[in-house]
Amino acid sequence: MLRSHDDQVKELLGRMTAEEKLGQLQQLTWTGDTGPGGGQTAEIEAAARAGRLGSVLNLNGAKWTNDLQRLAVEESRLGIPILFGLDVVHGFWTTFPIPLAQAAAFDPAVAAADAEVSAAEARSQGVHWTFSPMMDVTHEPRWGRIAESSGEDPYLSAVVAVAKVRGYQGPADGSGLASKDRIASCAKHFVAYGGAEGGRDYNTVDVSEQRLRNHYLPPFKAAIDAGAATVMAAFNTVAGVPAHANAHTMTTILKQEWDFDGFVVSDYTGVAELVAHGFAEDGAEAAALALTHGLDMEMVSTHLADHGAELLAAGRIGMDRLEDAVARVLRLKFALGLFTNPYTDESAEITGPTAATRAAARAAAARSMVLLKNDDAVLPLAPSATSIAVVGPFADCADQHGTWAGPGRLRFETVSVLDAVREAAPGADVRHSGADPAMAAAAARAADVTVVVVGEHSGLSGEAAARSDIDLPDGQHRLIEAVAATGKPFVVVLVNGRPLTIGGWLHAAPAVLEAWHAGIEAGHAIADVLFGAVNPGGKLPVSFPRSVGQIPLYYNHESTGRPYDPVERYVSKYLDLPGGPQFTFGYGLSYTTFATGEPQLSREEIAVDALARGESVELTVTVSNTGERIGDEVVQLYVHDVAASVTQPVRRLRGFERVTLGPGEERAVRFRLGAEDLGFWTNDPSGTYVVERGRIDLYVGTDSSASARCELRLT
Ligand code: NOJ
Repeated sequence: MLRSHDDQVKELLGRMTAEEKLGQLQQLTWTGDTGPGGGQTAEIEAAARAGRLGSVLNLNGAKWTNDLQRLAVEESRLGIPILFGLDVVHGFWTTFPIPLAQAAAFDPAVAAADAEVSAAEARSQGVHWTFSPMMDVTHEPRWGRIAESSGEDPYLSAVVAVAKVRGYQGPADGSGLASKDRIASCAKHFVAYGGAEGGRDYNTVDVSEQRLRNHYLPPFKAAIDAGAATVMAAFNTVAGVPAHANAHTMTTILKQEWDFDGFVVSDYTGVAELVAHGFAEDGAEAAALALTHGLDMEMVSTHLADHGAELLAAGRIGMDRLEDAVARVLRLKFALGLFTNPYTDESAEITGPTAATRAAARAAAARSMVLLKNDDAVLPLAPSATSIAVVGPFADCADQHGTWAGPGRLRFETVSVLDAVREAAPGADVRHSGADPAMAAAAARAADVTVVVVGEHSGLSGEAAARSDIDLPDGQHRLIEAVAATGKPFVVVLVNGRPLTIGGWLHAAPAVLEAWHAGIEAGHAIADVLFGAVNPGGKLPVSFPRSVGQIPLYYNHESTGRPYDPVERYVSKYLDLPGGPQFTFGYGLSYTTFATGEPQLSREEIAVDALARGESVELTVTVSNTGERIGDEVVQLYVHDVAASVTQPVRRLRGFERVTLGPGEERAVRFRLGAEDLGFWTNDPSGTYVVERGRIDLYVGTDSSASARCELRLT
């Protein structure tokens, strides 16, 4: 617990002036978009000397951070060190696949590997704190920030978030934070940002209490339990109240119900934006509302620092709340060891990826890929192929870093698919052609097999990158059609940051591999999968819609009174589309085949009182590899409460395990179900979780449409 530093914090607080306290709540940006010369640099240096600067974002490099730290530590009155923060979202030097891809691995070890490598690289560069993990559950593929998320499922998002927090920070009690290879994490964006209406970034979110608690909050709760040191407020409103001044979410739920002892940082100018939201009349009111309702640190805008003294004098903010906010910031600085060790060893900087970190990024990327289609076993490619064409706008692309890659993007190119295919098939004649359909078709005609690499540029996903149309951009489908018209075998490799609508050309492509924005080793990892060195085992963490008109479309939707039926008219459906998505949540193929058996329960009924006492039920299912290659399957368990006082999702994921099986091998996979899996939060704003009597249907299989079912009765 960060509270173990409270004695030191109290002693220091006792010596601080009101200005110094307000200063600890200010974060300024070194670089960025606030003007030529980069960020708030002059302001930063003055504030550091004056002891009125809690944190700086966007500065890295041991020497750079040390130089600035020296101003705070050696020239300010109390010598309180600065906390340096940066968005290290999927890698610092060594870019790992985008977070959406990492979720597709259905393997928390992938997220953990990214976090551990990122933490060591960043800390060696003077960065103490990352604004990651992002854990916004979302139903919105139009929203560019889906690339930063773990997709549409709260349970999967929570599992990934926990792995990341542990990887960045170490143990939940914060005891690892002072290590030279750890950094503090930031659970963001609090909360419900993924619900942005229409998928437009920063947009309104109107959400019921039960949706908030069942859908958006679980990853945050899991991250806080794993020790996440900080939380970032979200840009959106939550049921009419901006998240930056939302007492219900920041104070009642986060700090009171969950007993969170870290601090809440605003998002970039998020406090100032309370005025644009129409929630505060001016900057002073914005500062007062934000602080009073639970925000602790202001990023980039300076309303709290500018107006804090006058707000205190007028009684519009209280000294207790101010000191609580400062104590939260100071606790983390103590936990990070900054008071004893404010500087970073300039001789020990990590200056780039190593062979080991590249290997980790390559393995993570290959584990994240999802095989969407593989007719006639076009894949894996035979290494003996004598001629291969690698075509498309992303075939020879050296920027597969993806949105929110760290400083590594500026210094290191990603491995292109073309280079990696040449390496993997040294005996083959490998030809390249770019985006032109006629030239691609000519290359395909001359080759045994063609790899068509299409997708989205990184800038089309991430922040402020919503799209109203999520087809392949720039008419890239024409390239696929031209290659298909040759009649020669080919494979489509998708490199993208969101689900795409691919139904227009899917029928024409014999094989499709979803590779995402796969990071620094993208090409190698794609070649590993194409040639079968890695058998793909990733699964979709989000539904792929057939059409934009279906959005929002998600597997864990609630029941309706008139569920979809292909024949009936007066049911919930579109007249012009089949029901359901193109590809459902949890879907993904392999080069081998698997069979799962019937689920077996350790008991067929259990009393809700027994569940409340911590008893649980075990479900066992066997999975076997029925094909001829070693491969991975993700066994998935879904729960459905058949009749409940709050209508429940038709299915929701409550367990998964990625297993590797050799040909003919069989394994029993066990899941434990307790109260936390079988109940739900009601609409009570003060937070009521119930497990109700009645029938629970349990589904087990290899995607969210699994049909193997058993029943559990809660008595
Ligand atoms: C705005 C983004 O919303 C947030 O995720 C990020 O951490 C901050 N900018 C800082 O760069």
